Amino acid sequence: MITKVVKPTPDQIRLAGSLIADGQLVAFPTETVYGLGANARDAEAVGRIFEAKGRPGDNPLIVHISCEAEIPPLVVAIPPHAKELMARFWPGPMTLIFPKSDAIPDAVSAGLDTVGIRMPGNDIARALIEASGCPIAAPSANRSGRPSPTSAQHVLEDMNGRIPMILDGGACEVGLESTVIDARGDVPVILRPGGITPEMVKEAVGAVRLDEHIMAPVSEGERVRSPGMKYRHYAPKARTVIFEGTPERVVRTICERYDAELAAGGLPAILGFENHDYGDRQVLSLGIPEHPDEAANRLFAALRELDTEGRTLALCEALPLSGIGLAVMNRMGRAAAFDIVHL
Ligand code: TXA
Ligand code: MG
Repeated sequence: MITKVVKPTPDQIRLAGSLIADGQLVAFPTETVYGLGANARDAEAVGRIFEAKGRPGDNPLIVHISCEAEIPPLVVAIPPHAKELMARFWPGPMTLIFPKSDAIPDAVSAGLDTVGIRMPGNDIARALIEASGCPIAAPSANRSGRPSPTSAQHVLEDMNGRIPMILDGGACEVGLESTVIDARGDVPVILRPGGITPEMVKEAVGAVRLDEHIMAPVSEGERVRSPGMKYRHYAPKARTVIFEGTPERVVRTICERYDAELAAGGLPAILGFENHDYGDRQVLSLGIPEHPDEAANRLFAALRELDTEGRTLALCEALPLSGIGLAVMNRMGRAAAFDIVHL
């Protein structure tokens, strides 16, 4: 199959919409990461997503909508907190868990009785959903286990020859996947942190809880609220270690470990802040500590670069676990299998 990368002109969006309506897959930009979309009502089309990604069948997909009127047929109830959160943060980088109706095939929900729904903030994404005339099931458009794609080029690296079309909408604004929230209970629970931060949720509805697995690995056989937590995502081939502590200690320790790896014949890299002094060592920049949104925006491209450059060891600077820093640390933590050194 030839994979066409096209600019999202109205004509191409119409064509992409008809491919989706026809049961095909199209990769498209969102404000978080690129998605790999299929008609959410068509179990066979959804099956193609799992095939193209090499994704385990027990990991459910998020359903993308372009307006709230599309929700009622997909769910059996709208939790009260969900109403407030939708009004506040949609369209935007937030997925909410609803009790699902029969309109959602098992292939989408992976056998759960719930469905994650999101209205993306990206105009191209919403135009595509409208053009297709159906809700779009879409995971991140990477091969399973690779970092999520934040550019059309990343999608092409992973999906070339597997899908007919990629809509190229340029770089993603947020750069990390949406915040997944289970707002069915009294207190909304964040299952996956993202651009809508715990602080923002708390401010909107008065309370918030973090799932215990956000900054901890899942042990074998353990039950989780969100199946995606079980999988070692975003894992570069390089051994990845995170260092947390005062900037002086972190920089000194990273430099020591870097030099030792080099002396041992390895090829180390640093994921660090550009205002920290690493001499002439190879640094993939996370921006500056005052702007954790830059780290969010750059992390996945940096993790991909480690592989392209054949790095053997990645030494990463930790971020504070507040604001979007929590989402960065969740993804970095999983890339490092939560190997975090406290200095
Ligand atoms: O920003 C995003 O959410 C991107 C873009 C394309 O919208 N999509 C995305 O999808 O990241 P994916 O499939 O890569 O990640 C979906 C995550 C998985 O961790 C999955 O386990 C969780 O959401 N999830 C989906 N449906 C769920 C449900 N019903 N209950 C709990 N977790 C769910
Ligand atoms: Mg993903």
